[in-house]
Amino acid sequence: MTTPIAEQDQVLIFDTTLRDGEQSPGATMTHDEKLEIAALLDEMGVDIIEAGFPIASEGDFEAVSDIARLARRSVICGLARANPGDIDRAWEAVKHAARPRIHTFIGTSPLHRDITKLSQDAMAERIHATVSHARNLCPDVQWSPMDATRTEHDYLCRVVEIAIKAGATTINIPDTVGYTAPRESAALIRMLLERVPGADQIIFATHCHNDLGMATANALAAVEAGARQIECTINGLGERAGNTALEEVVMALRVRNDIMPYRTGIDTTKIMNISRKVSTVSGFPVQFNKAIVGKNAFLHESGIHQDGVLKNAETFEIMRPADIGLNDTNIVMGKHSGRAALRAKLRDLGFELADNQLNDVFVRFKALADRKKEVYDDDLIALMQDSTTSA
Ligand code: KIV
Ligand code: ZN
Repeated sequence: MTTPIAEQDQVLIFDTTLRDGEQSPGATMTHDEKLEIAALLDEMGVDIIEAGFPIASEGDFEAVSDIARLARRSVICGLARANPGDIDRAWEAVKHAARPRIHTFIGTSPLHRDITKLSQDAMAERIHATVSHARNLCPDVQWSPMDATRTEHDYLCRVVEIAIKAGATTINIPDTVGYTAPRESAALIRMLLERVPGADQIIFATHCHNDLGMATANALAAVEAGARQIECTINGLGERAGNTALEEVVMALRVRNDIMPYRTGIDTTKIMNISRKVSTVSGFPVQFNKAIVGKNAFLHESGIHQDGVLKNAETFEIMRPADIGLNDTNIVMGKHSGRAALRAKLRDLGFELADNQLNDVFVRFKALADRKKEVYDDDLIALMQDSTTSA
């Protein structure tokens, strides 16, 4: 007997920076930029790249087709609404990939059924017809009930079962408006696994938005309940408050593998490079204190922290900068820095000081740090040159 998918420990990483991320107002990327990012995602071990929404524009179609041709390892996925025209267009774009996927979706919550004016039965028929259509074109089909977290449970179970029977191989459960909370996110996946016939034969994905700042927690809770694909974006880029950040879920699963024993295939040392690239091409700066990739994420300024880190990095660091491909020093000199950090920093810069010299430089360093927020290497070198000339 094979192990049900939900009991296996591999979690697939589905990156949608180029689709959901690019939907962020103002984050539009050029064709070449999309290709560059797709190449970096492929190289870092992303399992599935959602490369775009081929029916949306000629440009999106071209980008998805070219990415499909270039990808070496990743599955290349194109998004389609629940109609044959969208699905055919998505297939035309992804069919060049070694491993193509069609992702089709429809809003299933009462609010969305109101907008599409489809009764529950009519929508169920549409789901069966469109998923079957996609499956006739492509062996790998993902289906999403948009706004799943606000869809009635009985109806959600019914449509998920229909999609599975029609041939969907991945069922994605989107928290489209970032409304759910971790306990509920887990309970929803557990409920689907328990109630829907055939659910143990497919992969459940979790797709969380960050409107309440809970996207990462919700995605990880879904994994603990049996989801085996996380949908995410680099730097958490995405509509409104964004999507689950790839770097956060990947590093959380790595650092806390003791309590979340799941693995991803991501080469984490590539994280910093792609984070910078996405920030540059999208024009969206990364907030200084953003987890994992923020400018300050590995910096220590206070004397106690600097002293601790210098003696044993683990005192104040739960991961090493090198784990995400960051080789910069993690000590920033400022008014909270202590003597030990100053001595270590000066040693790095080539100045070995006796205790009395250090005391003197320390007083002048503190005076400088009071005037400046950050004291850079050049400032320290100037300070040292001043002390040699005035001595
Ligand atoms: O947030 C959402 O519901 C989506 C779907 C298209 C999967 O992005
Ligand atoms: Zn989304």
